[in-house]
Amino acid sequence: MVQGKASRMSKLRYLVAGLAVSLSACGPTRVEPVVMDSSLPISSPPVSKCINIGSALEAPNEGEWGYTVRQADLLRIKQAGFDTIRLPVKWSAHTRLDAPYQIEPSFLARVDEILSWAEQVDLKVILNVHHYDELNEDPETHIPRLEAIWDALAAHYAGAPDSLMLETINEPHSNMTIELTDPLNKRVLERIRQDHPDRWVILGTASWGSLDALAQSRPDYDPKVMLTYHEYSPYDFTHQGAPWADAPATGIRWGTRRDVREMMDELDKAVAIRERLRMPILVGEFGVYEEVPVEHRARWTRTLRQGFEARDLAWCYWDFAGSLKAYDIDREAWLPEIKSALLDE
Ligand code: BGC
Repeated sequence: MVQGKASRMSKLRYLVAGLAVSLSACGPTRVEPVVMDSSLPISSPPVSKCINIGSALEAPNEGEWGYTVRQADLLRIKQAGFDTIRLPVKWSAHTRLDAPYQIEPSFLARVDEILSWAEQVDLKVILNVHHYDELNEDPETHIPRLEAIWDALAAHYAGAPDSLMLETINEPHSNMTIELTDPLNKRVLERIRQDHPDRWVILGTASWGSLDALAQSRPDYDPKVMLTYHEYSPYDFTHQGAPWADAPATGIRWGTRRDVREMMDELDKAVAIRERLRMPILVGEFGVYEEVPVEHRARWTRTLRQGFEARDLAWCYWDFAGSLKAYDIDREAWLPEIKSALLDE
């Protein structure tokens, strides 16, 4: 499990995102932010309490990162009080490299099986395209493949229940810049809309899903679109000790009044973006690495989750049974501190 994770990209996410913003702020290419007509209604987000099913289908092969989705887990998640799961899927590992880029039928059938389990227990699902590493390296070659993946998924899920939501791309970064991400989202949305005029679609955000990149994004208004970003700040706190992250130190604390104020300032920025772009926002990932003392993880998680709810920002915790876990599959039990931080008043 750890081997697969350690080989993942190193994440200088926030550093790089911040740098990109400060360069663009003083460079010649600065563009004015989009301001939508303030009479456009902001739809209510369709998600309220969501958890990511990480470490399963985001791995090159399910099980390689230590977790395989089980039917009983979906019931457990529902009974705990969640209404939605986000299912990160590495389609790129199961799709042919040559046109017409066929998706392995057995892989699609496995995804369908999990979707049907979710439907049986009345959980909504956000289905995304996750860890498309080659796209981030070489967008020119891989954008057509991603579009073909979406054509296939849009056709396959035509007529699926409204509880299925589609997310265009997870955390574009590196060569998949903000400038490329906006037009990609538009094209993918157009393709999805042909078969799904009313389905909720979530547009992935560049610079690893950073709030700064969301602030610069230029989506068209659509009453069934949610915008998204991921919240792991301070990264040195949330990812301390994580073998795949550039945050090797441990023993970092969080929770001073200043820490809380900075966290809330970020949330207020998200609210301002929502007011400006007139579309609801899902914080599609947030969480703290499992090796951090659980009471520290819980304090950060509860404070943030309450901040989301006070501002009507939809949230999705990362993750269920992976390395930022809320549920321990070895003990077959929720981590009570994390569960409470997410679901109690
Ligand atoms: C990645 C996961 C990772 C998590 C926390 C997600 O975006 O897909 O693999 O565990 O971030 O770093």
